[in-house]
Amino acid sequence: TGNVTLDGGFTNTASCTSAITYIDGDHGILRYRGYPIEQIAEHSSFIETSFLLIYGHLPSPAELTEFEGRIRQHTMLHEDLKAFFQGFPRDAHPMPVLSSAVSALSTFYQDSLDPFDEEQVEISTIRLLAKLPTIAAYAYKKSIGQPFLYPDNNLSLVENFLRMTFGVPATDYDVDPDLVKAVDLLLVLHADHEQNCSTSTVRLVGSSQANLFASVSAGINALFGPLHGGANQAVLEMLERIQAAHISTEEFMRKVKNKEDGVRLMGFGHRVYKNYDPRAAIIKKTAHDILAKTAGSDELLEIAMGLEEIALADDYFIERRLYPNVDFYTGLIYKSMGFPTRMFTVLFALGRLPGWIAQWREMIDDPTTKIGRPRQVYVGEGERSYVPLAER
Ligand code: CMC
Repeated sequence: TGNVTLDGGFTNTASCTSAITYIDGDHGILRYRGYPIEQIAEHSSFIETSFLLIYGHLPSPAELTEFEGRIRQHTMLHEDLKAFFQGFPRDAHPMPVLSSAVSALSTFYQDSLDPFDEEQVEISTIRLLAKLPTIAAYAYKKSIGQPFLYPDNNLSLVENFLRMTFGVPATDYDVDPDLVKAVDLLLVLHADHEQNCSTSTVRLVGSSQANLFASVSAGINALFGPLHGGANQAVLEMLERIQAAHISTEEFMRKVKNKEDGVRLMGFGHRVYKNYDPRAAIIKKTAHDILAKTAGSDELLEIAMGLEEIALADDYFIERRLYPNVDFYTGLIYKSMGFPTRMFTVLFALGRLPGWIAQWREMIDDPTTKIGRPRQVYVGEGERSYVPLAER
């Protein structure tokens, strides 16, 4: 195999250079364009963070107003795309609906797909940022059989998303400002995470010069997996299973450590963070605040806290440097906000979108980009002679 190096899972191979997100996993550091996530979480908004990730600098007040205004003008879906949702089965998971609808965007905007035309990339960026919340809300409405609500462009992106998700026609929807703030924070925390599985997918697909919609659609499918974005849903399902089976947290942890049936403590461990996940540290506080306000999920939170307490003091987890990641808490928060479990990963996708766009644009703008084409180490048969069917 010559000088090819095997690195399955890319644990030690950089696929690109990037100036967007910095992570130091040993010290729990995460920065967007140089700004620490703690400062961004405290002071910024999802729209501003999106601008920062995509254009590389914090917007001036005028730039921010202009950016947000443009997004507000593009929130509606083409009526034919709206009809597209009717083709899915009633119980369709919203993630494949989301990726299909994003893929379909390239059929509605065929005149703006050139990856090397700046204006076309710009309009595709705005369309994606504006339309994904609408698509996500429609995917949800479809799954519960309720009518779709048109976006109300007097509302902010998050307010609009919440109204289209939870509102019903001809009835006022009072947007709870605390809820808006919490959703905005969760989106900010998910906005980019350098070369994770879905982002690498977006870049790899884009490296063939596939358009932005096609590349992001692929990223959404990568995010759907339970070891990646699907983990927030998997955490909640794990907690509910523990609750329903009436097994103790100790008993469950024994199973995890013995690797019985391949069961893992979902929401723990990270490829890069080996001491703590700074996003989890921020969200843990929010989880307690929000859950204190909303009744109903307390028992699940208690199970979660019990699992966390055991894990943090247990040799199995200490030796392997397994700490809670962001998804350990987000599922609980989303549930208390009234989102059904199936929407959790969709919310992750809404948050990650500006990161995917920023990374795709960085890749396209980089003159050294080549088509992604990994090598392999062949382990199959050596040369052998074909045996005709009659002789086998
Ligand atoms: N519970 C129990 N054991 C675990 C866990 C876990 N959550 N995670 C890793 N291990 C063990 C694993 O069995 C292995 O043990 P051993 O050395 O005895 O074989 C060791 O720790 C190393 O694990 P690995 O699978 O080689 O580590 P990785 O870097 O390939 O995987 C991970 C990282 C996040 C996929 C993994 O920790 C995991 O499956 N966690 C649960 C799923 C999860 O929460 N995913 C969300 C990740 S953060 C959000 C995102 O980016 O999407």
